[in-house]
Amino acid sequence: MDKKELLYEGKAKKVFSTENPDYCIVSYKDDATAFNGEKKGTIIGKGVVNNRMSNFMFKLLEEKGIPTDFVEELNDRDTVLKKVEIVPLEVIVRNKAAGSLSKRLGLPEGTPMKTPVLEFCYKDDALEYHILAAGFATKEEIDIISKYALKINEIMIDFFKECKVDLIDFKIEFGRYKGQILLADEISPDTCRFWDMDTQEKLDKDRFRRDMGGVEEAYAEMMKRIGLA
Ligand code: TMP
Repeated sequence: MDKKELLYEGKAKKVFSTENPDYCIVSYKDDATAFNGEKKGTIIGKGVVNNRMSNFMFKLLEEKGIPTDFVEELNDRDTVLKKVEIVPLEVIVRNKAAGSLSKRLGLPEGTPMKTPVLEFCYKDDALEYHILAAGFATKEEIDIISKYALKINEIMIDFFKECKVDLIDFKIEFGRYKGQILLADEISPDTCRFWDMDTQEKLDKDRFRRDMGGVEEAYAEMMKRIGLA
């Protein structure tokens, strides 16, 4: 399958049309932004890590009963996906306090949550309408998205435990495709917080957001941990 027209260019990816109207090709870049694009940079090799790791996770989740938009990995940076209509919500699942939740609740980073915390954030932060009132998603869609998000969390906690990694939190997105809700977007060190289980060292994009150094090394280490390098 070949890339035809550029449909969309985001901060970290480009999306192209293909000869099949049901499919698109995503191409992962090394560009990184944080704080709504205020901070910009490059993480060398990030596109390859995110493409390969996300595809690996989506295949694992499919095997465990979560429908996803993954079709076929073409090469290190490019993947064929089902062309979904993105549900305009960022779904966040948290197992330990970190980032904005630490700030909001006044809890030190790493404080365990008694139950997983599920949050829905509007993709466009400027909008403050209720999800249902604004028609971003239906009640049925919210129910199925919540169920999938919590199941994805359980599958990922177990998987990363084997890699000696604590899954602190992550952000996922969903899409609509032929009447079905599918997991879409990516699962990568850009969208998850991964801490080494023994040392609690950060192995994710927080190293870039917080100018901690060792960013490329952290992404490379996660590839080793999951057996892709
Ligand atoms: P937060 O603590 O900053 O709200 O982030 C929660 C999780 O969501 C964390 O794993 C990082 C991820 N995330 C994204 O994937 N994209 C974003 O734009 C932000 C702010 C967070």
